[in-house]
Amino acid sequence: MSAPKKLYIKTYGCQMNVYDSERMAEALAGYEQTDTPDDADMILLNTCHIREKAAEKVYSELGRFKGLKAEKPDLKIGVAGCVAQAEGEEIMRRQPMVDLVVGPQSYHRLPEMEARTHNGAKVVDTDFPEEDKFEKLKTRPKAKRGPTAFLTVQEGCDKFCAFCVVPYTRGAEVSRPVDRVLAEARDLVERGVREVTLLGQNVNAYHGAAQGGEWTLAQLIWALNDIDGLERIRFTTSHPNDMDDALIEAHGTCDKLMPYLHLPVQSGSDRILKRMNRSHTAESYLRLIERIRAARPDILMSGDFIVGFPEETEADFQATLDLVEEVRYGYAYSFKYSTRPGTPAAERAQVDPAEADDRLQRLQALITRDQRAIQNEMVGREMGVLFEKPGRKPGQMVGKSDYLHAVHVQAEGLQPGDLRRVRIVESGANSLRGELLD
Ligand code: SAH
Ligand code: SF4
Ligand code: F3S
Repeated sequence: MSAPKKLYIKTYGCQMNVYDSERMAEALAGYEQTDTPDDADMILLNTCHIREKAAEKVYSELGRFKGLKAEKPDLKIGVAGCVAQAEGEEIMRRQPMVDLVVGPQSYHRLPEMEARTHNGAKVVDTDFPEEDKFEKLKTRPKAKRGPTAFLTVQEGCDKFCAFCVVPYTRGAEVSRPVDRVLAEARDLVERGVREVTLLGQNVNAYHGAAQGGEWTLAQLIWALNDIDGLERIRFTTSHPNDMDDALIEAHGTCDKLMPYLHLPVQSGSDRILKRMNRSHTAESYLRLIERIRAARPDILMSGDFIVGFPEETEADFQATLDLVEEVRYGYAYSFKYSTRPGTPAAERAQVDPAEADDRLQRLQALITRDQRAIQNEMVGREMGVLFEKPGRKPGQMVGKSDYLHAVHVQAEGLQPGDLRRVRIVESGANSLRGELLD
């Protein structure tokens, strides 16, 4: 038998791409993964189109593979993900050495596409096919896994925020059936996974087919809660308008559901939220968080913000700062608005880039202040830590707390996958230090 060919995958963008990359690697059965492009027989870039910078990175990365391709004419280069979906054949026009372009909804066809490239064909598939790609994909081999895993349960978006490409690159909202999700979760647990993060562009809009009708995300979480050996459940990303009562309540009552919620709001100004087509107000968002905190007082909130959205004034921006002050985020991600071709906001009057930069810095300073303070407040508290890997010092292990902070512990005999109670004793630059309680 000839040695397996080597596949190098580079992943950009969100966690859904991380999950998709794992599935694509499994689908390409004749390949084993390598972590350098230099010895690869196939290079696959799994791309992101969310901001201009993300999309442009793909072309500069492809440029770097020119030499490799010249040395090794059999090397196949593929582009997958959201840039593939958005630009399709245009990618091959700009970079003729690309052999294959596959969109995020058609990658179950990848093996067959890959085979066609060996006859010298250039292959593009950016369909939104009728068939369920997850159903068509190979099941995961029974290989051992680390303690944490992503599990995509929902894809696509029907919200059409005025700045965002996701509804175009990922298509309409679709949920995977409940039995498939549960089967995949059980399989992951058998292979060593103790924490799953359920993924979806709008994960809390989940409505998966189940016996006797459809289940919501809260129902799915309760079913996962019953799986022995699965210790922690998280989900991301949620839209404020899809947080139903049962899901809010689950944060108080479901013991495996972790006290962390990523709930992007984008802006604190109602005028801008309206222009963004967000269909919620700053006030309704704040009231929602009040209800979530009533169910789970220690929940750590996380969010996303866009500054410099078209027509954003200093007063609008101030409203964003006020909202951030009021919420106190444990984590928050802020981005300068990036014009995306084909989206409604691209046509509007843009904010001066220097002004947008200034706002981004001010927002990030405020977010960092809260983030640090909240991390420091963990000192003295007791919490669960799921250990993932050895630390840099001998005898040290690193894991994630219930609130997703990295925690270092010095202790003999700890293994990846151990979930232990820890007292936090120190807060460092980017992580906490803890001591085992039991
Ligand atoms: N589905 C998720 C996340 C989508 S993309 C949600 O609805 O929240 C992740 C983040 O990228 C968004 O929350 C937003 O803050 C940011 N983003 C999306 N489009 C952008 C654009 N055109 N410019 C800058 N940031 C953008
Ligand atoms: Fe994009 Fe809005 Fe959909 Fe999130 S909800 S993916 S920001 S369109
Ligand atoms: Fe990027 Fe596509 Fe995810 S645009 S953020 S990779 S859904």
